Amino acid sequence: MSKRVVLAYSGGLDTSVALRWMTDNWGVEVVAVAVDVGQGVDAPSLRERALAAGAVEAAVIDARQEYADDVLVPAIRANALYEGRYPLVSALSRPVIVKHLVAEARAHGATAVAHGCTGKGNDQVRFEVGIRALAPDIEVLAPVREWGMTREDAINLAAHHAIPVNVSHESPYSIDENLWGKAIECGVIENPWEAPPEDVFTLTRPTATTATDVVVGFDQGVPVSLDGRQMDLVRIVSELNTIVGSSGWGRLDMVENRRVGIKSREVYECPAALAIVMAHADLEGLTLERDLAHEKARIEPRWAELVYDGLWYSPLREALDAFVEASQRFVTGEVRLHCEPHGTCQVTGRRSPVGLYDYGMATYEAADTFPHTHAAGFVHLWGLGVETWAARQAHAERPPASS
Ligand code: ARG
Repeated sequence: MSKRVVLAYSGGLDTSVALRWMTDNWGVEVVAVAVDVGQGVDAPSLRERALAAGAVEAAVIDARQEYADDVLVPAIRANALYEGRYPLVSALSRPVIVKHLVAEARAHGATAVAHGCTGKGNDQVRFEVGIRALAPDIEVLAPVREWGMTREDAINLAAHHAIPVNVSHESPYSIDENLWGKAIECGVIENPWEAPPEDVFTLTRPTATTATDVVVGFDQGVPVSLDGRQMDLVRIVSELNTIVGSSGWGRLDMVENRRVGIKSREVYECPAALAIVMAHADLEGLTLERDLAHEKARIEPRWAELVYDGLWYSPLREALDAFVEASQRFVTGEVRLHCEPHGTCQVTGRRSPVGLYDYGMATYEAADTFPHTHAAGFVHLWGLGVETWAARQAHAERPPASS
């Protein structure tokens, strides 16, 4: 019996060609597994295409709810932005995909899992480290890393075998998309000076003609409603992608540091992700005590870096999540986002039943509750150390008295 391999199949160029290439060159049986993390999956057609490309079996798994609850929730709570900007669109989807690949390998009696990543990217790291953490006995195969084809070659090979792919010589972008947004690479944008052509954008086309307000409700750091309507996170994210995206907001254009040591020009569209993190961080401004807020801000970049680097299944991520989760107990309330057509979205209000903002303390009107009489003493003691030091300094620098 020939060896069975579960392939992480997306229906894109690399995984479609990899499927065929593995059966032809390695003589293995390929079980194609597509995991729906909100990339817009048409399950019957995806299954059909995998079988047409040579798979012995094909499965499509709807993991959207799980992706939202198990991965996006901790990411939102951690205000996760790699290098301060990128909301980890691709990085976050991998742990969920990996989990299902391993489960399908067990279910179909496969001894190996294959992915369609190249040797130059982060995703190979995330797949392989993830699989090894969950199933050290399963072999990991990376056909694309071994075949030595250029993107051009792969496009030609797909055409030769009549494998249907959504890439052509005219539209050469490499796209990775899920509920949390879209990553765009390759083609003309490989030149970091070249402005991204408008046609790469699909989620942030500025089609809105009027300004809109949308109120995002949070319960313990988790988005639970839009404009007062309770709904699950999958729905909140997809509705916000539409509302915020149609204002033309949510684009990123950056040069990013990959784990493998290269710099890469990346274009992203992630309207909902950026809007939710912005709103969540704002609500924390209202609800977190100062020291906790500052300490949390120190670990947030570490969380993002760790997940970017493929270490989702690691003890440090679990420990950081425990801290973050504990910090979210009172991050409950609402944030108003105001979107203007042609590219703006900003917070214009926040409120919370458990907020720490005290109007009586903060107001500059006459009848406030702030204990003014304590201010002078506080400031005096606060500056005492510096004052003592400055006096000593002045003494030491005085010229010696002449005799
Ligand atoms: N640079 C991003 C990351 O490492 C996106 C990778 C997306 N992959 C793709 N095939 N376009 O998370």
